[in-house]
Amino acid sequence: MDTRQRLAAAISGILPRVTALRHDIHAHPEMALEERRTSALVRELLSETAADVLPPFLETDVVALLSGPNSGPCVTLRADMDALPLCEATGLPYASETPGTMHACGHDGHTAVLAGTALVLNELKDVLPGTVRFVFQPGEEVVAAGRDLVEAGALKNPPQGAAFALHAWPGNPVGTIASRPGALMAAAGFFTIRIEGKGGHGSRPEAAVDPVLAGARVVEALQTVVARRVSALDAAVVSVCRFTGGTNGNIIPDSVELEGTIRYLTQEVGQTITTEIERLVHGTCKAMGANATIEYTPAYLPTVNDETMVELAQVVVTEHLGPDQWIDVDVPCMGGEDFAYYIDDTPGAMVWLGMGEDCAPIHNPHFNFRDEAIENGIRFMSAIAIEALQKLTG
Ligand code: NI
Repeated sequence: MDTRQRLAAAISGILPRVTALRHDIHAHPEMALEERRTSALVRELLSETAADVLPPFLETDVVALLSGPNSGPCVTLRADMDALPLCEATGLPYASETPGTMHACGHDGHTAVLAGTALVLNELKDVLPGTVRFVFQPGEEVVAAGRDLVEAGALKNPPQGAAFALHAWPGNPVGTIASRPGALMAAAGFFTIRIEGKGGHGSRPEAAVDPVLAGARVVEALQTVVARRVSALDAAVVSVCRFTGGTNGNIIPDSVELEGTIRYLTQEVGQTITTEIERLVHGTCKAMGANATIEYTPAYLPTVNDETMVELAQVVVTEHLGPDQWIDVDVPCMGGEDFAYYIDDTPGAMVWLGMGEDCAPIHNPHFNFRDEAIENGIRFMSAIAIEALQKLTG
């Protein structure tokens, strides 16, 4: 049997188990940085393999190294494990048993697919031309724990030659793999603006400095950042998503707070946006006699795929899944993804795994990762690890 036949045989042997694992994780979703049960399931499964399962770098992460017979390069495969604060509305027999928490972004599927990939590559470890690092990552949503995991040295020993990850993608045919060289996902940052005025009676605004009016002008002014300071050929978003202040109909409050997000594809545009936000917020507030403080949380870098690794991914899909299973992505998505930190200074690629044209969107209470996509997910992750190791070996 050649490697492709061995992969196919190994995958069909573990599919029912991996599907059951996904249903189990789906029924027991855990929020960012609380993935204790999920990571314990993964550790238990990995303990059956020859992989070296490392002690946690943060708390709920699982990192494991599986090596072939000879020393060689290292390739990282990553899955995220966290769920979202949503009430599930799928009505599935294995729907969330934790009220208010659900796997609405497919991370249950990502975890199951990578666990299955570890089982499969364990069976093929005699032909592994190097080391595969499996990273089961906590806290992808909002907290971007991928950055903390990288900073904690999870990818250091041995250093990686390339890294790959997949994400569930509603709208594309089930089991297809889609990607593009260059930017695939946007950088995402969050800001909080606190505007201090001077509170007073609603009937005597002349004696107050109204932070509500200053806040309203700031919201409007921020819409000019993308419209008037970013080239029409560059993609960017500035959204104010929360405006909080005041307690009563006749009290002008002392302060208000605004919170929002920025998205962009290049660091230059990101710099322009933050500079302009500073200028507009402070200028607008000063004109109104109010003061402002701005806090930024730079949560995600842009996810920029390496051209050679995307080419390799396309070859792998053509050879192992079939030529009709590859989709060229035309334009990046403005969502953020902390896998960006894994490929900031080494080549790598993220791909989208199709969930079907009729699938509910991610972050929606009706979303469910498609079981039919698991097989192609494992096939892609296993094959890209072997092919990338071979390519890095030269
Ligand atoms: Ni996600």
